[in-house]
Amino acid sequence: MKNKQLKIAIACDHAAYQLKIDIVQYLASRQIDVLDFGTNNCTVSVDYPDFACMVAQSITSRESDFGILLCGTGIGMTIAANKHNGIRCALCSDTYSAKLTRLHNNANVLSMGARVIGSGLALDIVDSFLSTEFSNEDRHNKRIAKLEN
Ligand code: RB5
Repeated sequence: MKNKQLKIAIACDHAAYQLKIDIVQYLASRQIDVLDFGTNNCTVSVDYPDFACMVAQSITSRESDFGILLCGTGIGMTIAANKHNGIRCALCSDTYSAKLTRLHNNANVLSMGARVIGSGLALDIVDSFLSTEFSNEDRHNKRIAKLEN
């Protein structure tokens, strides 16, 4: 990862609690600031939209630079996050998609499914996402502007 000053907002539901711990520890080991919005156990069932909302607000208020959202499939978190203006959340299960969604979509939230991929791959995906800058090419800026409008 290039930029160690990043602040990352992270949240999960009960299905992805262990993966969140793994990612928080990974980011901390790389001196990346993490704002952890929970949930904080795997035994109490919670509703993913509540957690996606907290991460989305952290980004749109500029408290955080990027977000990471985790649930069983990653799908619920992705749908919920993308309801928020200014959020471009990408569900990724491979490193190529994580890189391309930064390059082309300027995604600001990464979502993953803890019941879909293992921890090792998830950490590689986080690396790929956070180490890739938006291309800032006109054609991509034009398309992102259409998303916002
Ligand atoms: C929880 O059982 C599960 O529905 C949730 O983690 C997620 O996969 C939803 O999209």
